[in-house]
Order: sequence, then structure tokens, then C-alpha cells
Amino acid sequence: MPSAALKLGVTNALTLKKPSKNNPLPTIVLYVNDQAEILGALGEAEYLSRAEALIDGANFKGGLGEHVSDYALHAKDLPAITLIGVGKLDKLGANIAKVAANTYAAIKGAPKAALLWGDVICHKHFTQFVLALQAASYRFDHHKSSSADVDALKEVILVNNRDELAAYETALSFAIATDKGISAARDVANEAPNVLTPSELAKKAKHLSKAYANKISVTVLGEKEMQKMGMGCFLAVSQGSDEEGKMAVIEYYGKTGKASKKARLSDPIALVGKGLTFDSGGISIKPSAGMEEMKFDMGGAASILGTITAIAEANLPIDVVAILACAENMPSARATRPGDVVTAMNGMSVEVLNTDAEGRLVLCDALCYVQENYKPKAIIDTATLTGACVIALGSVRSGLYSNDEDLLFALEAASEFTNDLVWHMPLDDGYDEQLKSKVADMQNIGGREAGSVTAACFLKRFIKDNQAWAHLDIAGTAWKSGSTASATGRPVALLTQYLRSQADN
Ligand code: BES
Ligand code: MN
Ligand code: ZN
Repeated sequence: MPSAALKLGVTNALTLKKPSKNNPLPTIVLYVNDQAEILGALGEAEYLSRAEALIDGANFKGGLGEHVSDYALHAKDLPAITLIGVGKLDKLGANIAKVAANTYAAIKGAPKAALLWGDVICHKHFTQFVLALQAASYRFDHHKSSSADVDALKEVILVNNRDELAAYETALSFAIATDKGISAARDVANEAPNVLTPSELAKKAKHLSKAYANKISVTVLGEKEMQKMGMGCFLAVSQGSDEEGKMAVIEYYGKTGKASKKARLSDPIALVGKGLTFDSGGISIKPSAGMEEMKFDMGGAASILGTITAIAEANLPIDVVAILACAENMPSARATRPGDVVTAMNGMSVEVLNTDAEGRLVLCDALCYVQENYKPKAIIDTATLTGACVIALGSVRSGLYSNDEDLLFALEAASEFTNDLVWHMPLDDGYDEQLKSKVADMQNIGGREAGSVTAACFLKRFIKDNQAWAHLDIAGTAWKSGSTASATGRPVALLTQYLRSQADN
């Protein structure tokens, strides 16, 4: 079971009712800058004097990461007060996600909290703040027989002192829809690879057509169908596994409506996700240390699944087609060997020199399929594609490649708005030269240099002339690596915001 999300609301007037069992007093949270000034509290409130006494008594400096509480133990009808330091105001924009995470950590023991932001959170920061607060409450614990450390916090009220409540309500409901998509992506990506097989991942897609029956339809292609269509690159990856490879095709009719079975998407935007439910490397097997993290190699597909969930929740008036390329990369007697030559759906031949460069092989057939069967306005693929991208950009920014300026700018704008950051990377022909093969149209790897770029160049070879396309290498951002490895849900926030910006146009 996914963990229950926080209940969130906005108001511009905080009236504290007498507490009861079902309606406990909220903890009042006030924000303090590095000048020890309280930001944006509602002027008339009597807890201001308690807050000021707390600042003096605790010698509270208001630095980022500082917090202090007054639990009002001796007067039970008074709310607890928590002060959160936000540091320098001119850095608040960059620190907003940290402030949200600090807030959650400071108040998670109370059932309910009222966050007094006044007019400090502008519209932009509001979305980032809400998403970061929700992210902090996320848990993936359904494989644990007892969940010992469940947080008490269930409900958060965001309080401002402006009249623009309607704008905040709109922003909040969009952020809640986005969070549903992010959490869905995290739940799928965190799942164990023996549970989340390619078939199970495709089933998650199928489930969307039940949850949102009036606007989503899903078709799942199996290996036989892919064989008929000539998807030799995709099949070269999945043939070594006992688990059947699947291609899930999701149609979201936000603009057209799914009035009849014959409904056709109009000017859809296409999303394509790499869905390797486990990437052992195949015959070019990976070293064993950390190999378990290759269960996250379906993070691209998870992000597309999450994005469709988010736009369906938000009811975005836009048409979208999404492809999840779901496969498992395993070594076996039937597995692809280094040296094998295979042919993609568009007739291009590929010499497989390294079976661990499998993401580009499943993606190229998915890209062919979506261009063959739809006329997408733009195609965006997301993939945990290369270790080289992790070396280049780490876990802060995803690598963004594109052949189209409008698409690039729109994605960068959505990225800034959501703080789901990207960095524009090159696609020059000089890099593409590394893909020349002695025996086929191309080989599936370049040399040692610029591995994330050559992977993107490989994909670009399957994009038709004049087709707007962008590729996000999320190898460093889709999950947080290490002892507490966990999926991040990136770049669901970015993609959802991008689609929202396109729905407005
Ligand atoms: N899924 C991996 C990329 C990856 C590696 C993501 C580490 C996150 C962390 C991908 O399929 C892969 O193995 N790529 C190879 C490509 C190489 C063989 C050209 C890589 O990056 O080493
Ligand atoms: Mn690989
Ligand atoms: Zn991979």
C-alpha cells in the first residue's frame, strides 16, 4: 500500500477552535529570517508574543536549519509553537525545498500544523514548498511486517494574509495532483525487481485505464507483436530474460475526450520511458557491488506513468501518448552476445558491442513506434541511460538534450518553476562519429569520452527530420543512491508542469 499523503489546505484566516479529540489544535509554525524577524504572521494573533519570547529565551538566530518549539505544556488549550529558521531572505528561493523538509522534520510528531507563511511564499515558491513537504512525508514500507516509525502528522494548513486565496487554491490542487504522480512513480520504482517485472509494470499502465476510464486507454504489446513489427533492438534486450518484454501504449484524451472507441488523439505530445525492471548488464555483466540499484533502471517509465497520473488527476486539457518500454536485461544462453547485429523497426541495423548499453536499444524501437503510429507535436523520452551522466551532472540536474529550441526553452522553464533541475547538453555530429560501426549502420556504444552524449546521439538517429524531440538522461536524479537508496519521482514535476504550460497554449 502506498503511504497516505498529507492532507493539505490553504486559508487566509486562522481561527483556532477549542480542541477536541477529532479536531486537535494545530501546532503553529512561524518562519524567522536571519535577522530574527518573524515573517508574515497574522498580526492580531496572540501567539506572536509567545513567539517573540521564544526567540529571546532560546536565543533563536533564524538560520537555515534552526528550529525551536514551545509545547505549551502548562496550558493545554494553547497551541504549540514551532519556529523555523529560513536564513537569508534573498536565498529563500533556492532554499525553499530545504525549508519545507526542515518544517516536516520539526513538526512530524504533531497530528496537525498551521504554517504561517504570510506573503513570503510567492506563487512559484508555493508549488516547490508543497511538493517538498509532501516528498518529506513519503514512505515505502509495505514490505516491512511492522511500520514502527509512523509519523503523527496528518494535516497541514497553509496560512497566508493575502486576498488571493483562489490563486493559492488552484496552485495547491495542481501541486496535490503532481504529488500523486510523484508518489506513484516512487512507489513503482522502489518496488523489488522480482515483484515489478516487465509484465507487472505494463499492468500498472493498464490500471490507469481503469482508474481514469473516461480519458485513458492502454494497449500492451507483447514480444510476438513486437516481432511482427520488426522491433529487433528491443527484443535483443529482453530475449535473455525469462520475463516477457512488454511495450505499454497509454493514450490520454484530455483535449479530445474518449467519446468513442474510434477516438483519435489530436496533436499529441509523446512521452517515452525506459523501463528496465532490472539491468544486470546481460552478457556484459555489471560488477556485483551496488547491482541491486539497477532495479531503479525503470525510473524513466515510472516517471512517465507518474506524469500521466498527475495530468489525469489535474484533468489537463491536452492529448498525450505515452510509451513504456518494459524489459529485463539478463544473461542466459539465449541472451544477446557482444558482436550480434540486430535491426530496429525502421530498418536500421545496430551492432551490439556492449549488452549493458541496452536502454538505447529498447528506446529506439519505442521511438520508431510512436513516430510511425502518431504524429507527435513533440517527443520527450526519459531514461536512466548512462553512468556517464551521473559523473557529468551528479544528482542535482538531469541531462537535457534536444533538437528543438522551443521545446528546450519550455522544458527549462518548467524545470526552473518546479526546481526539478536540468542542464542543456550538446548533440554535435562530432560526438555522433563515435557510433560508426565496421559492419552495421551503427554500433550501440561510443568510446570512453562523453558517454551520456553519445547515448543521446544514438537515440537522435531514430528521430525523423523535423520531429521535435528531447531526451532527459535521469541516471543521476531518478533515485537517491547509497544506504538509503530510494526513488525520487523525478522528473514527474518537470514533465507535469511542462504539459500544463502546453495545455495553456
Ligand atoms: N542503466 C545503466 C546506466 C546507469 C548506470 C544508470 C549507473 C544509473 C547508474 C545503463 O543501461 C548502462 O549500463 N549504461 C552503460 C553504457 C555503457 C556500456 C556504454 C554505462 O553507463 O556504463
Ligand atoms: Mn545497462
Ligand atoms: Zn540500463
